[in-house]
Amino acid sequence: MVTTQEFLGKKDFIINNQTVSESCPSNIALIKYWGKYDNQIPANPSISYTLNHCKTNTTVEFLADEPFSVQTFLSGNEEIKFAEKIEKYFNNIEQYLPWILQGKYIIRTENTFPHSSGIASSASGFGAIAKCLMQLDEFFSGKDSEEESLRKASFLARLGSGSACRSLYNGLVVWGESQVKGSSDLFAVQYPNDEIHDVFKNFNDWVLLIHEGQKSVSSTVGHGLMNTNPYAERRFLEARENFEPMKEILRNGDMHGFIKLVEHEALTLHAMMMMSDPAFILMKTGTLEVINKVWDFRRITGLPLFFTLDAGANVHLLFPNDLEQNKIEDFINQELLPFTQKNGVVKDVMRF
Ligand code: DP6
Repeated sequence: MVTTQEFLGKKDFIINNQTVSESCPSNIALIKYWGKYDNQIPANPSISYTLNHCKTNTTVEFLADEPFSVQTFLSGNEEIKFAEKIEKYFNNIEQYLPWILQGKYIIRTENTFPHSSGIASSASGFGAIAKCLMQLDEFFSGKDSEEESLRKASFLARLGSGSACRSLYNGLVVWGESQVKGSSDLFAVQYPNDEIHDVFKNFNDWVLLIHEGQKSVSSTVGHGLMNTNPYAERRFLEARENFEPMKEILRNGDMHGFIKLVEHEALTLHAMMMMSDPAFILMKTGTLEVINKVWDFRRITGLPLFFTLDAGANVHLLFPNDLEQNKIEDFINQELLPFTQKNGVVKDVMRF
């Protein structure tokens, strides 16, 4: 079993001024991570699709031998709060990158999706930063193999934001010890492509922006509330158990089973929020209207349009690329767009 020992940094390094750039996509979970232990250890395994267009592009300028400090810019605007978060993060990972506190950082970052969209920018954001750090590490401490470097980037991204560790890989990605070969609580692994039916490899994710702006409860606070949620243990067990049917569904292309499981996971996530103390609800009226419309549409047409949710009000509409796709797209444009705040929709596809 891989332990944190594997990721300890090399003590002999030589630093110099460097500028590196990286890009990292966001991801959307199908079996959700909700609840964690110390050091970002997930309470249950999760699996996600990596997106294609929703990305963060990041440039890190490292000025060697200047006192440690971090300055961050999001789309050209200085972000003090984000810099404080990154400073804390860098302090946290020094044992894995022993040079990290020995310079000044100017970090410029931009998302290809609207900032206020509620699409998880922490996943793509920490993914991109972790990749930049691994590039710097290669300059300062020498090269590891591509595979080792990616795995360490996933390990480091997790310490920034749990779901970020899944963004380092394409396709379907698993984080957390589970029946999936090689899976770990410390980093994510790619779900084996040859165990995924073709129907799940060509998928759309259209994100309806039901509510743009700050969420009332952050994911971090939400995870924390699982510590006192009386249903938490059952939920952790269920997520783990859900890997069994998920593996089978992915192998045999059972679209009906996939839809049922993915929607169940999304609703369970929000049910957990409602059963927290204090309770909170991140769905809005529009979220529920869209869910009901999707169910009606499916009942009437039998077409495979379904949804998942992350920790917010926006609805991720999932549907395969196939002959009937136009009918689904027309329905979304005509019937579902009116429930968004400003006709906001981000059209993405899964990245395989
Ligand atoms: C609902 O990864 O954002 O999107 O580890 O505290 O940064 P932190 O939380 P985060 O939580 C994501 C929760 C989720 C489900 C998921 O992506 O699996």
